[in-house]
Amino acid sequence: MKWFEGPVLGIESSCDETSVAITVNQMVKTNVVTSQADLHRQWGGVVPEVASRAHVEAFLPALELALSESGISANKIKAIAVSNRPGLVGALSVGVTAAKALALAWNVPLVGVHHLEGHMMSPLADSPDPIPFPHACLIVSGGHTELVLVQAPGRYEVLSETMDDAAGEAFDKGARLLGLGYPGGLRIQEAAITGNPKRYRLPVAIPNDAYHFSFSGLKTAVLRLVETEGANLNVNDAAASLQAVIVEALATKVRHALDHLQIRTLTLVGGVAANVALRERLARDCDQDGVRFITPALSLCTDNAAMIALAGSLRLASGQRDDHHLEALPNAPIRSLEPFGI
Ligand code: KG4
Ligand code: ZN
Repeated sequence: MKWFEGPVLGIESSCDETSVAITVNQMVKTNVVTSQADLHRQWGGVVPEVASRAHVEAFLPALELALSESGISANKIKAIAVSNRPGLVGALSVGVTAAKALALAWNVPLVGVHHLEGHMMSPLADSPDPIPFPHACLIVSGGHTELVLVQAPGRYEVLSETMDDAAGEAFDKGARLLGLGYPGGLRIQEAAITGNPKRYRLPVAIPNDAYHFSFSGLKTAVLRLVETEGANLNVNDAAASLQAVIVEALATKVRHALDHLQIRTLTLVGGVAANVALRERLARDCDQDGVRFITPALSLCTDNAAMIALAGSLRLASGQRDDHHLEALPNAPIRSLEPFGI
């Protein structure tokens, strides 16, 4: 694996985390993440305008902290990698504009990084063992649920995706209906600790269609549960039941796909990869099936700039560069990614 030589500064601002990180090869020197969760909580979800403004306020303090924490001064940074797609366009624009300004001021190369490529490269962080290619990567985040065959960094084949909601959305919408608030995934996980996952019967969405996922039926089922149980609803049991069916749906599909395609390594990435029940279930399934299972530390699952710096470093090492024309793009499927060096 060829890394860009020298410290790479990564910037992430695609949704509600402002993050600045510095990596050297695969080593994460610092990964400053400022969450806007407190700000958006009152609205029950991310408000794009509020997010953009908060990124503007949080960026320079995060940059200063990253530089001071790492002990790497600004004049030692050799390149800048910024998450420029997909995401909230106003939020992304803050990071992209900052990245262009810094690249110009410091006279260093710039590269735009696909946010999901960042997630896919996150298991490489600080990894003592090289991760085998090809491998399958399950991306589970607030906006995406995709199983990708990673032939090599930059060469991806989407094996399956959700037909409707993302797994993170199922957690977030379920949490809202259960009155657990925002951010939903973590709230459900915490409530589920003391809950009985067998108490309520929610549908496990396992469509017959190839390896695809479907989660939209769950929010209707949770709504119906809330309405029928009324004041008798045990929220912890409901949270445990919801978490259990999401984990079951993901694990069943992934196991089937790995077996069918004879893939021997699975990585688990994205915000929902921070879910302990999901990590444990996939680890157990993989162990039984002789599949190597790799998932990054929790801080590298939810949005962060270290993963952007890592993916950017690989692209920079292959010669890729962007200039001041780099744009923030709201939509960008994984299929649109070009292999390295092209
Ligand atoms: O990757 P990410 O930080 O942002 C996107 O790219 O979307 O993922 C955010 C998602 C949210 O839906 C959040 O509820 C979910 O990850 N999440 C979790 C946990 N921590 C974050 N879901 C389940 N369990 C968790 N512990
Ligand atoms: Zn993400």
